[in-house]
Amino acid sequence: MTGELETLRKQADDELLKAETEAELQILRTRYLGRKGLITGLLRNIARVLPADRALFGKECNELKDEISARIDTMLADIAVSKKRKALDSERIDVTLPGRGIRYGSLHPVTQVREEICGIFAGLGFSIVEGPEVELDYYNFEALNIPRDHPARDMQDTFYVDENTVLRTHTSPVQVRTMEKRRPPIRILSPGRVYRRDSDVSHTPMFHQIEGLLVDEGITFGDLKGVLTVFLRQMFGEETALRFRPSFFPFTEPSAEVDIRCVICKGRGCRVCKQSGWLEILGSGMVDPEVFKNVGYDTEKLTGFAFGLGLERIAMLKFGISDIRLFFENDLRFLNQF
Ligand code: FA5
Ligand code: MG
Repeated sequence: MTGELETLRKQADDELLKAETEAELQILRTRYLGRKGLITGLLRNIARVLPADRALFGKECNELKDEISARIDTMLADIAVSKKRKALDSERIDVTLPGRGIRYGSLHPVTQVREEICGIFAGLGFSIVEGPEVELDYYNFEALNIPRDHPARDMQDTFYVDENTVLRTHTSPVQVRTMEKRRPPIRILSPGRVYRRDSDVSHTPMFHQIEGLLVDEGITFGDLKGVLTVFLRQMFGEETALRFRPSFFPFTEPSAEVDIRCVICKGRGCRVCKQSGWLEILGSGMVDPEVFKNVGYDTEKLTGFAFGLGLERIAMLKFGISDIRLFFENDLRFLNQF
């Protein structure tokens, strides 16, 4: 019987030496140590052993069992270690490589300027109102005192959708839409896209305007001057010099264009201000009584002022940009600077 045990030990030894994988070792564990395994088989036949030898035989069987079990455990542990080493070798991370860096997004310069302007006017009690970009001829022109044959229509080369519908050429139609719906006092600001058949370094077919409108009893040109002065000084600095210059718009009377002292050359004269030392920044005026009549307002009681400005123009001055078309190319090398 001890001979049988010796043969089994030899056989196990050979097979263990050949085993290379975890799976092979598990099979050997079952073959030798399992409930139906070879060693258990020997123990089951212990009746064949002489009673005097049984204790020793049992002990030797158990010792062989422990020995094989220990060898399998050691080999499994070795396999696990070399597996891990291989994984670490192949997944080596070079912590000295430079990182990829986090890219920050930023608001488009036109958006930044819009938010700044809306913030200043919100502080003055103005609320934001928006209007449609595809607009009726009536609101874009007629109700603003620009009849069909009026030469001012040529000043704003218009995209027509059909005979009565246009892409709005300015944000002024929002004035009319608002006054049709509300009674004074009115204090609104209306940012949005506008469209004109126009294209060069300072003009694009689509650009942004902000319209302002204030209507109440007893509003004067002094109020217009005061509000616009506060706005432009907050926008460009307290020392900014302003100039109110007589102008003409069909929907305001009197009208004024506002210039600021050139922010590039401080008034000495440069290419941007065409050597004049001044930059036109917005159009404005007292609402023409004809416009009030179109919305059914009492022209004896009510007065008001309106203004409109080009957002790209202001962003160009604020950030020192010389070509308006850069705003719409969406080149990240340009946009990342803001
Ligand atoms: C108007 O559009 C008037 N609605 C402004 C107004 C409102 C006057 C209320 C009185 C009362 P104007 O056509 O000048 O005015 O345009 C205003 C501004 O839009 C200009 O000062 C300029 O900054 C900008 N602008 C005009 N055309 C273009 C263009 N093609 N591309 C970019 N900006 C433009
Ligand atoms: Mg103009």
